[in-house]
Amino acid sequence: MTDHVQTAREGAVLTIRLNRPDKKNALTRDMYGAMGNALRAAAGDDAVRVILLAGGADFTAGNDIADFAAAGERKPGDPGAAFEFLEALVATTKPVVAAVRGNAVGIGTTLLLHCDVVVASTSARLMMPFTKLALVPEAGSSFLLPLRVGPAPANWWLLSGAAFSGAEAAEAGLATRAVEDGAVEATAAEMAAALAALPPGSVQESKRLIKAPHAEALRAVMTAERVSFGERLRSEEAQAAFAGFLKRKG
Ligand code: COA
Repeated sequence: MTDHVQTAREGAVLTIRLNRPDKKNALTRDMYGAMGNALRAAAGDDAVRVILLAGGADFTAGNDIADFAAAGERKPGDPGAAFEFLEALVATTKPVVAAVRGNAVGIGTTLLLHCDVVVASTSARLMMPFTKLALVPEAGSSFLLPLRVGPAPANWWLLSGAAFSGAEAAEAGLATRAVEDGAVEATAAEMAAALAALPPGSVQESKRLIKAPHAEALRAVMTAERVSFGERLRSEEAQAAFAGFLKRKG
């Protein structure tokens, strides 16, 4: 159990909010577990028509690097909490709206590829620093990002780990809309409410049809990425990168 993830339902919109501000909402195993549980519960709850995924001043700084460093301790065959969360996100039939402010790092950017609507602050700072950490892309991003924004920005963002703004994310088509920071929450809530007001069966079937053409390929890519990611996590170069981050303030 963790209080770093809060859920609240208002009308037919369930908000899942990351709340670990002192660590920029870096995601621990417990947080992934709580997010996965909330998504699975929402899937079976007719009272929930839309899921709103939000943070605070930061969306999330990505996977907790201390947890990455401890990956070697995981039992072989354990899919990992992050993967189980992603499976729940990919599987949900309910539309997901993301409200992105501040930093959205690693999975904080790649999970957006599985959200149906993304409202970003123009000043949000997105990045996928996988190669900087000696890792590889995850969450199907090696497939979905080029599909979404085209190969040129996808290659640069995934290979270099360079940061880009919420405004750039919207321009490239990764975010649905970029608005000023103070308007992110209200815009996302408004768009979530608009979806929640529509006939739910129609919205869910439409979501299924939108995703169906790539569903099988996505599954295969996510499996392949997971194998590489698991190997990279345990590699000497990745462990050195994690140690570097964890020691940088020492
Ligand atoms: N894992 C663990 N702790 C993290 C973290 C992460 N992914 N991201 C941030 N934190 C912690 C910092 O260690 C710091 O903790 P401290 O106050 O106890 O020292 C706190 O959150 C604030 O972060 P800080 O780095 O001081 O903030 P910043 O504004 O200077 O930088 C980031 C923000 C997100 C750019 C920077 O924290 C960062 O690069 N984090 C790592 C992101 C990452 O590589 N994630 C994995 C992607 S695959």
